[in-house]
Amino acid sequence: MTNHRIRKAVFPIGGLGTRFLPATKALPKEMLPIIDKPLIQFVVEEALDAGFDQLIFVTGRGKEAVENHFDTAFELERTLQERGKLRVLEDVRACSLAPGSASYIRQQEPKGLGHAVLCARHLVGDAPFAVLLADELILGGAAPALTELVQTEAEGNVVAVAEVPQEHVSRYGILAHRGCSGKTCVAQAIVEKPTPEEAPSRTAVVGRYILSPRIFNYLERQEPGPSGEIQLTDAIAAMLKEGVPLTGVHVSGVRFDCGARDGVVGATLFRALQDPTLAAVVRDTIDISNRERIAS
Ligand code: G1P
Repeated sequence: MTNHRIRKAVFPIGGLGTRFLPATKALPKEMLPIIDKPLIQFVVEEALDAGFDQLIFVTGRGKEAVENHFDTAFELERTLQERGKLRVLEDVRACSLAPGSASYIRQQEPKGLGHAVLCARHLVGDAPFAVLLADELILGGAAPALTELVQTEAEGNVVAVAEVPQEHVSRYGILAHRGCSGKTCVAQAIVEKPTPEEAPSRTAVVGRYILSPRIFNYLERQEPGPSGEIQLTDAIAAMLKEGVPLTGVHVSGVRFDCGARDGVVGATLFRALQDPTLAAVVRDTIDISNRERIAS
């Protein structure tokens, strides 16, 4: 995609995070940390790295911690400065977004991902834009995942995809396609959370989208899906039927679905193993647990 006008990235963060209760009773699920960095910060950094400098957060009740995370924390910063904790001060300061670069808008009811994106309509305006889902973490790629989407020469809508096991297709939007050429596949159709029997492939959408602003016309007409939610996938499918192309891009990097517990564990271990001190802790813990298993 060569369109240099795309500068706006939308982060739908209104979801309830029921799979992580009680941890998410008072804490937004997007603030769950992978060691020392909250999920939302990974995707914000990914968007900034890809050149998106206008960030739109579609929030809901109880999500104020996200806003605070990206704001200046004056008292904390002064205390760290006074105590000479300069390295951590640098990390804290790096979270503050440039003045005027972040907007927060509320999705009043959790009516689905499509509805959340529709809430950003007036802030997005009339240029293509990105959507990033904080619970999909893509680490260790040749380039950040969104950068790989931006670099794809494709018209219409572009989504990041990954092959998933057959038994997981019902968690995702799934593309129908006639095979991929290199990293990209041209979609014939897209279906939200099909059963394994119905799924047209195992090629799943993994939480990164570059969308034409025409999507809003489809979202405002979109009927709720079987779950009662307005699905982004259904609006993309309707656009595709009317001739707006959809391209899936297999992004590099290791992907963790941090909307589920296994993804959080995997991402935490992946990050830990990249740090020599933490990697030693992981290995020791596995040894201890193996010894206990054998002893019992
Ligand atoms: C959403 C989308 C789905 C996509 C998935 C990626 O589902 O509706 O199409 O594949 O994100 O994680 P959710 O995880 O919000 O249920």
